[in-house]
Amino acid sequence: MAYSVTLIPGDGIGPEVASATVRAVEATGVNIEWEIAEAGAAALAEYGTVLPNAVVESLQRTRVGLKGPTTTPVGTGHASVNVALRKRLDLYVNFRPIRMLPGLYTRFHDLPINLAIFRENTEDLYSGLEHEVVPGVVESLKVITRTASLRIAQATFEYARREGRKKVSAVHKANIMKLSDGLFLRCCREVAEQFPDIEYRELIVDNACMQIVMRPESFDLLVLPNLYGDIISDLAAGLVGGLGIVPGANLGTEHAVFEAVHGTAPDIVGKGIANPTALMQSAVLMLAHLGEREASQRLQAGIEAVYAEGKSLTPDVGGSVSTSQFTDAVIARL
Ligand code: NAI
Repeated sequence: MAYSVTLIPGDGIGPEVASATVRAVEATGVNIEWEIAEAGAAALAEYGTVLPNAVVESLQRTRVGLKGPTTTPVGTGHASVNVALRKRLDLYVNFRPIRMLPGLYTRFHDLPINLAIFRENTEDLYSGLEHEVVPGVVESLKVITRTASLRIAQATFEYARREGRKKVSAVHKANIMKLSDGLFLRCCREVAEQFPDIEYRELIVDNACMQIVMRPESFDLLVLPNLYGDIISDLAAGLVGGLGIVPGANLGTEHAVFEAVHGTAPDIVGKGIANPTALMQSAVLMLAHLGEREASQRLQAGIEAVYAEGKSLTPDVGGSVSTSQFTDAVIARL
């Protein structure tokens, strides 16, 4: 049987890491028919929109996507593909596991870091509700709802119980944003009460940043509103070797889109040195989601073996090989 998966190569280094990842997934022997769909700057030039309907329709059909990063211009220009996609498919969970790879030398390499971020993915300051009140004054609306807060908290605690995780930390700024973050926090508390077996605590976001850097090994699962989740994901990626490493999944009740945390990396595009580990580890999550547990574990083991050996790593993690040489090394170990 072949699975249908929508492949969005994206912009910048997206096509480079996407083709490396497709090669690695195909080498596991799992039969996938890729429906290739252009989104981002690539689609804007051809279709006049960054998110053509064909992309959403393909994902509605296949229900599973693997996505490379897409460009979002700063300040002006078109809206974010990611924000639009997450809203259109109601992908309300952004799941980002942060784990130390064996053998990888980082500032924190001797710590057993294994935390996971559950970022609310559909609202908060990403609602895109901004307007100019009068010249020189703009408003940007932070929207927090009970429905979205409850379901991200529920997803976090359910994952904790299913995977035997011990602790959930809710991150907020309810001391200042008393109504919006206050509502988020009350929803987390409400859900926490249904899971007395899981330890629950709350941290103000600025303190959370300091604690994560000081004691990253003491964190287990974090549940956060959209903006704090975005920022803390990159901070946490920095603990385990950077953006070239960390995978992610956007999950809804019907659909799942797997993508790395990193962006289009304009500074290294076209050089053939992008690290495909983050998208490959996203594909590990995708294979598990498809029910291909054995292939998923084999791909993860292949990636880890290459890191443990340390000879075929890309420059961002201290090596000197190319994207395709790293990919060959992973494939050789499958
Ligand atoms: P970025 O993640 O593209 O790059 C930050 C730094 O990390 C750069 O030095 C880059 O070379 C490095 N880096 C990132 N991924 C890497 C990889 N796989 N291998 C080796 N090095 C890697 O973040 P930046 O520069 O803030 O954003 C660039 C563009 O990407 C923007 O248009 C932004 O909107 C977009 N973006 C898209 C995302 C998505 O589609 N999921 C997520 C984040 C940013």
